Amino acid sequence: MINKFINQHILDLKKYDPVDSDKKLAEEFGLKEKDIIRLNANENPYGPWEGLEDSFSEIKLNVYPDSNQDLLRESLSKYTGLNKDQIVAGSGADEMIECIFKIFCNKNDILIDVQPTFGMYSFLADSIGMKVIPFERDLDWSINIDKLKKEIGISSAKLIFLASPNNPTGNSLPNEDLEEILKLGILVVVDETYFEFCGSTSVKMIKNYENLIILRSFSKWAGIAGLRIGYMLANSEIIDNVFKVKQPYNINVVAEKAAILTLENRIDLQFNIEKILSEKKVFAKFIDNLDGVNAFSSDANFILCKFSKNGGEFIFNKLAREGIFVRSFSNENLKDCLRFTIGTTNQMKKVKDVLKATN
Ligand SMILES: Cc1ncc(COP(=O)(O)O)c(C=O)c1O
Repeated sequence: MINKFINQHILDLKKYDPVDSDKKLAEEFGLKEKDIIRLNANENPYGPWEGLEDSFSEIKLNVYPDSNQDLLRESLSKYTGLNKDQIVAGSGADEMIECIFKIFCNKNDILIDVQPTFGMYSFLADSIGMKVIPFERDLDWSINIDKLKKEIGISSAKLIFLASPNNPTGNSLPNEDLEEILKLGILVVVDETYFEFCGSTSVKMIKNYENLIILRSFSKWAGIAGLRIGYMLANSEIIDNVFKVKQPYNINVVAEKAAILTLENRIDLQFNIEKILSEKKVFAKFIDNLDGVNAFSSDANFILCKFSKNGGEFIFNKLAREGIFVRSFSNENLKDCLRFTIGTTNQMKKVKDVLKATN
């Protein structure tokens, strides 16, 4: 009965498939929560900057946060080299994606989804009744730019998201390719959620292209996924409009303080990033030496592996029985692929032991 009031595209929408809680995984696989190794959400196994939690006791929890995000945007301005009016923060990069749809898109507008990629783009487009046109990456996950340009022209797409490094494939988008797409005048969102693991950015192009939006996050490199904080970089006109549509108090006081302190102490966090990157190298080499498994080169804190010999599902279950959870996929183009977040040396040793035993 109530369904007749609900928008048809919402009735048709499949729920987003988030990572399960430790509690749920423990129940499902008959494990103890403390034994669970989470390598399925690209979280940082080392956690936040070590002084962070002590600083929380000074925060006034009874006052609303600064809706204008002045201190935070000043810190981000120093970090990114952009002006404060080119920056806005959100409750994760996810909230910024939602704001983009609110500002620019209507029902039946077209999004090109360069697959495989982060699922939130097409999910949120579907949630407002947009048309999502899939565009497949090549077998090495690179993008055929000429083909993509043609598709953009034919479809009259309004918007495209390009994650760089891309999740789950790990490869980055060359700036020359980005520039070709920007020149078409379509709205281009470059998602740099994993920027701190690779160091390459398109920020400098913002001054030349008003159709470029960049997204960043504190969830991965800074180890504060639980606090939900990300940000958008774009020309000031776009940012002005985000301030109109975002919830006024979207960054809670704890997240705001955490982000500022994280930026001030980022040299300490760099050490953890380096540990992750060196562990990633070791893991890629290990995979290369296994039979019937292929690791795709990655610029992020995860590696996508294809288990052609044993199949992805078999390996997923073997790992899960040992309490190790990685990301599996139902997409046809990711058949037998699993994405491994790079964990601590100890965690990765456990992963390697399971994989060795199955090879
Ligand atoms: C490419 C990409 N963009 C955005 C996000 C979401 O980031 P946040 O936690 O800041 O919402 C993720 C999370 O996995 C991601 O992989």
